[in-house]
Amino acid sequence: MEFFTLVKSRRSVRKYKTEPVSKENILKLLDCANWAPSASNRQPWEFLVVSGAWIKRLSESYRDIVEKFTSNVKIKNIGNIASNKAFLRFASDYGSAPVVVVVLVKKHSDPKEAKADLESASAAMENFVLAAANLGLGTCWMTGPLYDENGLHDILSIQDDKEIVAVTPLGYPEDTPKPVPRKDPNLEKKIIWLE
Ligand SMILES: Cc1cc2nc3c(=O)[nH]c(=O)nc-3n(C[C@H](O)[C@H](O)[C@H](O)COP(=O)(O)O)c2cc1C
Repeated sequence: MEFFTLVKSRRSVRKYKTEPVSKENILKLLDCANWAPSASNRQPWEFLVVSGAWIKRLSESYRDIVEKFTSNVKIKNIGNIASNKAFLRFASDYGSAPVVVVVLVKKHSDPKEAKADLESASAAMENFVLAAANLGLGTCWMTGPLYDENGLHDILSIQDDKEIVAVTPLGYPEDTPKPVPRKDPNLEKKIIWLE
């Protein structure tokens, strides 16, 4: 797909077909992620590729988070989640995605290095979600599951010196959500030109 069209047509997908994603395609996406720029060329990212019964265990953690969140808040429109019920449905099994990818970095005691690695891993994440869209695959960049980061560490046996940057389901979209309108689409307030 033409690059500018690809960037604008990528959506956060919350409903997936159960059809598996081949290892070859997962590797293609992770290779793109691995080509992201990184602070001091540290290339600090690591990826956990989760499938099968592991997803159920991950979902239980996220469903608890969403249950607590939705019991306090009435969802009007977070992205394409139109209701508490839809949000809970997504949370209960990551939208039936056959794969969930978890992006990790090493913990740093220096907050500047921590921030730089977080930015680098986010660049990798963006490469990943765009590459996925290019193959007709859906993703949903998520930090909500990190409300139970300790729980995720236990479930996935993640070492204590690592932290989770984000999580995304990966799979073929069951439906393609409508674009979420951009705030300030004409970029009148978001850009300051210092000329
Ligand atoms: C850092 C980050 C964290 C996000 N966390 C979540 C999340 O926890 N759950 C979720 O359903 N969507 C999450 N999203 C997806 C956003 O809701 C989504 O990108 C936004 O609504 C715009 O929709 P679009 O991606 O389809 O353009 C996250 C996105 C980003 C970049």
